[in-house]
Amino acid sequence: MSLWTVLLAAGSGARLADAAGGIKKQFLELAGRPLYWRSLAAFAKSPDVAGVVVVFPPADIESARAGLDALLARKNPGIPVLTAAGGERRQDSVRNGLAALPREATRVLVHDAARPFVDPGLVSRVAGALDAGHGAVIPVLPVTDTIKEIRDGVVAKTLPRHALAAVQTPQGFALPLLLAAFDHAGDDFTVTDDASLVEHLGRAVHTVPGSPDNIKITNPEDLALLAPTTKPALPVTGYGYDVHRYADPARPGRQPARPMKLGGFPITGGPEVLAHSDGDVLLHALTDAVLGCVGAGDIGGLFPDTNPDFDNMASGVFLSEALLLARNQGLEITHADLTIIAQIPKIGPHAQAIRVNVAALLGLDKSQVNIKATTEEGLGFTGEKKGLKAVALVTGWRHPAPR
Ligand code: CTP
Ligand code: MG
Repeated sequence: MSLWTVLLAAGSGARLADAAGGIKKQFLELAGRPLYWRSLAAFAKSPDVAGVVVVFPPADIESARAGLDALLARKNPGIPVLTAAGGERRQDSVRNGLAALPREATRVLVHDAARPFVDPGLVSRVAGALDAGHGAVIPVLPVTDTIKEIRDGVVAKTLPRHALAAVQTPQGFALPLLLAAFDHAGDDFTVTDDASLVEHLGRAVHTVPGSPDNIKITNPEDLALLAPTTKPALPVTGYGYDVHRYADPARPGRQPARPMKLGGFPITGGPEVLAHSDGDVLLHALTDAVLGCVGAGDIGGLFPDTNPDFDNMASGVFLSEALLLARNQGLEITHADLTIIAQIPKIGPHAQAIRVNVAALLGLDKSQVNIKATTEEGLGFTGEKKGLKAVALVTGWRHPAPR
C-alpha cells in the first residue's frame, strides 16, 4: 500500500489577487519560501506519505518547476516530488494530479496548498482511517455559527447546526474509488471538494477530527496569518542608585544648596541638598533604573552636570526624558520599588505623598509603586547626617515595538 499526496497549487487566487500584488497565493512568501512549500514539507515529514505530486498553474509551470527544483536542491525532502499542470477547475487540477501519480500509488491524499498550516497529526489521522479500511476520509470541524440557506437576500431555511460540519483537506481516498468517482461524475458535475464526488457515487465518506489551525488562505484578511509572528515581550529589570550630600554651612560645597525634594515632592523642614540639578535623589535613582531597563547607560551620560542647561533642572524632566527614550525602545513599566536611606529627616510622614507623585510621573497606579525608608543605624555618612541615598528597582516588559 503506497500513499501519495496530490498537492493543489494550480488556482488563480482571484479573491486574494489584489491584496497579494497579483501574486497567486500559493506562491506568496512564507518564511522565505513559497506558501505551497509549507504543506509539501508537512507531507514529506509524515512517515505515511511515499511521495507528492505538486500541481501548478499551466501558465506558470516552467517557472514554478524551476523554483521547486531550486528549493529541492537546497533541502531534500527525502521523498519523490513530481509536478503536473493543473486545469480550469479545482477538480480538473486534481484529475491531472492523479494522472501524474506513479503506478505504486494505491491511496491518495488531496490537499489544498492554500492550507499551509496542515500538521502531521492531521495527516496521520486521515492516513490512519485509510489504513483502517475506509475508502474515503475527510477532516471535519464542528460549526459554531448558525448556518442558514439564503435566497435573494432572504432566509429560505435554517439548517440544523448539530448535523453540520466544516470540511478541510487533506482528504484521503483509495485511489480506485476516487478515479471511479471522477468517471461517474463526468465533466458537468462541479464540486468544491473531492469527497463530494464519492458521495455522488453513493459511497460512504468517513470523518476524522480536523484541525482548527488548518485554515484556507482565501481572503485578504487571511494574509495577516502569514505575517511573521511578532517576537514576545521580555521581562526586564533596571536598578538605580544615587547619593547627595547635605549642605553644611561650616563646609560650603562645590554645588549649590537646594531645598529637599523626594520623588518630586517637597520635604519641608528637611536639610538642604547639594546638587547641580534640583537634587532629587529619589528621582535620580529612578531615572537610572528606567535607563537600566533598556540598556541606555545612566543619567550622567544623558544629562551631564557640566551642561549649564541642567542647572537647577527639575529632576522630573530627567525622568520624563528617560521614560520617552525607554518607551521608544519598547519599555512598559509594571512596577517600581524605591528605598530612601537617610538618618534625617523622617520619611514615613511623606511616604504616601511621594508614592502618589512618583506613580503619576511614571503613569502607573499607586499600587505599582512602593516607597520604603530606612536609616543605617547611625552608621556611615547617612548616620552622620552628611547626606542621603536612594535605590530604585524598576521592573517591566521590553516589547519589540515602541510603546
Ligand atoms: N486549485 C487548483 N486548481 C484550480 C483551482 C484551485 O489547484 N483550478 C487549488 C488552489 O491552488 C488552492 C486550492 O485548490 O490551493 C483551493 O482553492 P481556492 O482556495 O479556491 O484557491 P484559488 O482557486 O486559487 O482561489 P480563488 O478561488 O480565490 O481564485
Ligand atoms: Mg477557487
